[in-house]
Order: sequence, then structure tokens, then C-alpha cells
Amino acid sequence: MFKINENYLKLPGSYLFSTIGKKVNAYAAAHPDKKIIRLGIGDVTQPLAPAVITALHGAVDEMARAETFRGYAPDLGYEFLRNAIAENDYKARGCDISPDEIFVSDGAKCDSGNIQEIFSVDNKIAVCDPVYPVYVDTNVMAGRTGVYDAGSETWSDVIYMPCRLENNFAPQLPKQTPDLIYLCFPNNPTGSTITKAQLQEWVDYANKVGAVIIYDAAYEAYISEEDVPHSIFECEGARACAIELHSFSKNAGFTGVRLGYTVIPKDLKCGDVSLHALWARRHGTKYNGAPYIVQRAGEAVYSEEGKAQLKQQVAYYMKNADYILKGLKDAGYTVSGGINAPYIWLKAPNGMNSWEFFDYLLENANVVGTPGSGFGPSGETYFRLTAFGSYENTIEAVDRIKSL
Ligand code: MLT
Repeated sequence: MFKINENYLKLPGSYLFSTIGKKVNAYAAAHPDKKIIRLGIGDVTQPLAPAVITALHGAVDEMARAETFRGYAPDLGYEFLRNAIAENDYKARGCDISPDEIFVSDGAKCDSGNIQEIFSVDNKIAVCDPVYPVYVDTNVMAGRTGVYDAGSETWSDVIYMPCRLENNFAPQLPKQTPDLIYLCFPNNPTGSTITKAQLQEWVDYANKVGAVIIYDAAYEAYISEEDVPHSIFECEGARACAIELHSFSKNAGFTGVRLGYTVIPKDLKCGDVSLHALWARRHGTKYNGAPYIVQRAGEAVYSEEGKAQLKQQVAYYMKNADYILKGLKDAGYTVSGGINAPYIWLKAPNGMNSWEFFDYLLENANVVGTPGSGFGPSGETYFRLTAFGSYENTIEAVDRIKSL
């Protein structure tokens, strides 16, 4: 008789955004006359940039001709895209990353979930609290997190690094020593960031204790302040302790197109075993590459027109962020984020917990956000709004919340 992976049974509830989707769909079905504004999941709303569309059309036409048709992509991704990434995301920022340290994939969500596979199940993970749920859930599935305590909503073998108002939503170095440290800056869900000097402390710490930092840089395009690093490889010594994850979803609107990449420097080793080699083995065995047409679209993100168009798109969303931030502040809410990130993190008012506020907002303002407790126990009385809506909807949502 077959057996299942019982670790899956340990997972409490369903994936956060599926739960929210079900609740909102039930409300919409019961109230078909209401105009619901969705500022919950961080999904983009603006169309792909013209430079990306042109590249997609061109690549589709290439696939229609025998002489330019492409089949399986190279294991690590096409060189044209890896060269563009190395040049623009690293060399231009003074980071020493070569194209063959870049693994192209179909998005940062999969990579952030899959990366734990190359580490021992005995490794101890440290996560920010609140945290993007994929990091924890995928470690639960792998059997790395111990026992779940429903009261505190924590796992016995996970080191939680609380990110609260009193520390500007930035994690402190943990007291217990971790093996793997997940960091995401600009942060999802709080929208907070840390400076380059602060990130350097994490790199020094990881090198000192022999930990690996899994650094999720999905939101780096939203950085507006000077001293905030765009990549962990801006820090000295990061090549020996860090893996970086990137997405094309937030900077270029590829949530429905799917493209991302992971950087594993060749200096990152466990004894004399290279993590780059392990991930290359995994990638080659389990993955056949992002589609050619999508990789061409990714290349267009780095063209001069692409860069200019996407800068405008990011500015569009950040105008929304500004409107939410200022509007809610004016209305007396405690709000943060929204300056280097497309997320606004607010304290639920009147002693409500985050799911109570979710229901209250859905019913009274027909606005959907994300309850902070879905990201971890320190998010219990918080709530996240995304700036990825249309400008018109964002204004309407904020105005509705203000008039409650
Ligand atoms: C979020 O809302 O946290 C993100 O959109 C989820 C994701 O990028 O997978």
C-alpha cells in the first residue's frame, strides 16, 4: 500500500491567497451588485510594456519558421538573457556575478520553494515574522520544521525573527544559530527595507556562523532610497554565503507570463561541494527551462525602451502606494511601507485582529486586502494593501476606507 508524504498533513489550512480568494468569491456570489476592489494578492494590473510585447511577437514569429524554431532551452537559460541580467542587474551595480552563475526559471515563487531541496533536512531555518508563506510552507513539506503549535502559530524547529514597529520591521540577528536564513528586501509583506550597512551585518554574520542567506530581491525595482541595496551581492563576502532570487513579475508585470532567475555564486560551498553544481544538477533533472518566447520578452526588459517603459510602470504603482500611505495616515491609521515597496502595512484599527479587519473591510468598504496573521504571528493585528491596482481603483478604495 502506498504512503503519502505526511508532512503535507501538518500544513495548517490552505495557501493564504487561496483562502482569501475563496472568501472573496463567496462574498461576491452573495452580493453580485457590489463593486469589489482587490488590493489583496500582489498581482499586477497594467499591461505588458510595448517593448516586451514587440519581443514576444518577434519570438512567436521565429517559432513559426523552421530555420528559427527553437526546442528545449539550454539548462541554465539562454545566454542572451543571462548576459543581459549579468550586465544590468549586477555589473552595472558593481557586483561580481557572471552569466554562468545565473539560472533562469519560471519565477521566484518556484525557486524560493524549491531551493531548500539542495539542503539537508536537518538544517534549521530562520525566517522573518511576518514572512512570505512559501518559505515556511515548503520547508514544512520537506519535513524540516518540527511540530506546529496552533496556539502560537509557530513551528518548533523554525527560528522566527520578529519584525515589528519598534524595530522598523527589520529583523535582528537571531539568538539561536540558523543554517539557512530567508531574507526578503524590500520586504513582502511589510514593505520595509534595510540599508546596505545593515545587510552587510547579515552577510558577516552568515559567514561567521556558516549559514546560507536565501535573499529574495523580487521587489528591488521599487527601491527609491539611495542607501538601500538592490542586491545582496553589493555586500562584501556575499559570494561565499548568499543565494539571490529574482522575479520579472513585479518589475515587468510578468505574473501571467512567468520568468525569474536565481543566482548561486561558484564560491558558495559546503566543504568542497559547490551549491552551484547541486542546483545545476537539480535544474537539469527537474526542469526544461522557461519558454524561448518568454526569455526573449525578458531580454526586452533590459533594452533601452524596455527600461524606460518599466520605469514608468513602477512609478505608476508607486503613485498608488503614495496615495494609500498618505490617505490612510490622514485617516489616523498607523501605516508603513510604500516608499521602497509596493506594499503598505497598516495596523488594524479599534483592537480588531487581522481577519476581523479583513471581514470588516470586505463587508463595509468592499475592499480586499491581506490579513497580516496569514504571514505569521507578528502580523496578527496588521493588514497589507498592495499598490498593484489601477490608479482609479486605488483612489476609490482609499476613499471608501477613509469614509468608514
Ligand atoms: C503576494 O501577494 O504576496 C505575492 O503576490 C505572492 C507572490 O508573488 O507569489
